[in-house]
Amino acid sequence: MRIAIGADHAGYALKTILIAHLQAQGIEVLDFGTHGLDAVDYPDYARAVAEAVARGEADYGVLICGTGIGMSITANKVPGIRAAAVSDVYTAKMSRAHNNANILCLGGRVVGPGLAQEILDVWLRTPFEGGRHERRIAKIRALETDCGKRP
Ligand code: RB5
Repeated sequence: MRIAIGADHAGYALKTILIAHLQAQGIEVLDFGTHGLDAVDYPDYARAVAEAVARGEADYGVLICGTGIGMSITANKVPGIRAAAVSDVYTAKMSRAHNNANILCLGGRVVGPGLAQEILDVWLRTPFEGGRHERRIAKIRALETDCGKRP
């Protein structure tokens, strides 16, 4: 499995922890930055990770900013991306099982490292249930197509 990961300055510390956590499990990580605590703009990192996932260069993405919200808003603009901002284990599980989320967004100022690691593990372990949920995902895809045709 290959994971694309990115963060802004507010998510940098948690990104470092999660990269080590993933690599300890033998998971390949593509790190799109940022690489320090200087203030940067979260859309740059959300776009890079979302485009990598949409192109199939990574199986999943992880994006971390202060709240996870800016990352999720931005990533969801990329066709094919279903980014979920998550701060609890139940939502992590359901975002995979029902929404087939392909990017996990976390808030470095919201969740501590222990909870973030548990959320990430549960998120990666939970399969999409398909069935009635596939029909709903198809409607999201149809919306992307329709919006793409609008001037
Ligand atoms: C940066 O201060 C902060 O606005 C950003 O990390 C994020 O929380 C935006 O959604």
